[in-house]
Amino acid sequence: LLDKPIQQPLFIKIMEKNLKSHGTWIGKWTFVLAATGSAVGLGNIWGFPYKAGDEGGGAFVLIYFLCILLIGLPIMVSEILIGRRSGTSPINAMKIAAIESNRSSAWQLVGWTGIIAGVLILSFYSVIAGLCLNYIFISAASSGVIEAQTQFENATQSWQGLLFWHSVFMILTLLVVSAGIKNGIERMVKILMPMLGFLLVFMVMYAMLNGAVNKALSFLFSPDFSKVNTDTFLSALGQAFFSLSLGMGSIMAYGAYMPKEQNIGSTSVSVASLDTLVAILAGLAIFPILFSFYDGFSIDETLVQLKENGLGPGIVFVSLASAFNDMQYGQLIGPIFFILLSVAALSSSISILEPGVAFLSEERILSRKKSAIVISALSWIIGIGSVLSFNLWSDVKIIGDNNFLDSMDLIAVKNLQPLGGMLIAIFIGWFMKESLIKDELGSINPIVYKIWRFFIKLVAPIGVGCILISQLF
Ligand code: PHE
Repeated sequence: LLDKPIQQPLFIKIMEKNLKSHGTWIGKWTFVLAATGSAVGLGNIWGFPYKAGDEGGGAFVLIYFLCILLIGLPIMVSEILIGRRSGTSPINAMKIAAIESNRSSAWQLVGWTGIIAGVLILSFYSVIAGLCLNYIFISAASSGVIEAQTQFENATQSWQGLLFWHSVFMILTLLVVSAGIKNGIERMVKILMPMLGFLLVFMVMYAMLNGAVNKALSFLFSPDFSKVNTDTFLSALGQAFFSLSLGMGSIMAYGAYMPKEQNIGSTSVSVASLDTLVAILAGLAIFPILFSFYDGFSIDETLVQLKENGLGPGIVFVSLASAFNDMQYGQLIGPIFFILLSVAALSSSISILEPGVAFLSEERILSRKKSAIVISALSWIIGIGSVLSFNLWSDVKIIGDNNFLDSMDLIAVKNLQPLGGMLIAIFIGWFMKESLIKDELGSINPIVYKIWRFFIKLVAPIGVGCILISQLF
């Protein structure tokens, strides 16, 4: 029995120490649902439109697509593969894969940096998601008398308010994760994802029927390369890693619960396509409404106006909210949009918390519940810095010109995530035994395999490496 390669990880686990098992997803589609839930989040519905707006539209969108296809997708396959191989948390998954390939167990450091990135990401993710929760009520109550800008200031100037909603969102995340894979995450994504699909389609249809569709389409899909610089690449790459939840263990942890008979390649393609589709649909839900709000202005003029009004992170909270304030049924459409954002955020935040919780509980350091409490409390405390960066600390610069929240984003999203992804690519491409990889990938078209191999060995490490180095200058 023991010469069967598939038995080896279990064997190693038993030899090394008895790690607690987490079990696998029950339904055949659950992995796709959960991983898509992880991928689709604030990054798609808030981050993608605002970055596309900030970075000049079509050209950014095109570079972003390339990052997803050439770098993100090959790394997603790698992460799922390493996770499923051992069925353990990213730290142990990297360690086991390294030991099986006769490499140094120091590769587990990739799992550790991932957990650090996760704690930092969750800290500010929860603050913004909390603001979305708050906006469900703000946008329902708005009378059109108060301007969106004032509303936004009211909501963010009070640190008590932000802190309250940050806490509510963190507790929701904690409750789902502490209930476990089957009773918490699996059950939750089965409710949240259909809801998200329905709300999104509703929003897009609404925008198509009532908004300036043509302007939105030409803004999103006609590239203007004069606006592209090295920052555009860094921003698009960071966005691709963030949006696909790569480089920090979420997808690896979810991959660990994937049943053996499921095909990793086709599953990754589904998740990456759905994620990209949702980003585009979010653009198609938001920009037609924004452009129709600035009726009579050209696209460029609108962008100038929007910039004054808080394009950038304020895009949904100020610009879109003021469109909601102004339009018929805005008090109904507004809350629907913010419920959509909150649902998407929750199905992501649970996946940010999971890798660390999986590690502490499989090592039997703490129970799952206690692990979830400890890690979310840590993120919650760090999140207070992001809460304050909207008000009391708005002038405090942490790294360079960045306030607290932006510094967390810079460390975790723009650096740790790509770095983690690059190391995973290097490990799979150059250090992991090929027989193990083939064993895990199952039946795969040899040409597709060769292409993937090429991307993971060369394109992903070099591409990510160049972009990471370029920001130093
Ligand atoms: N992918 C999520 C989003 O787009 C965020 C996320 C990042 C989730 C990292 C998990 C890990 O909002």
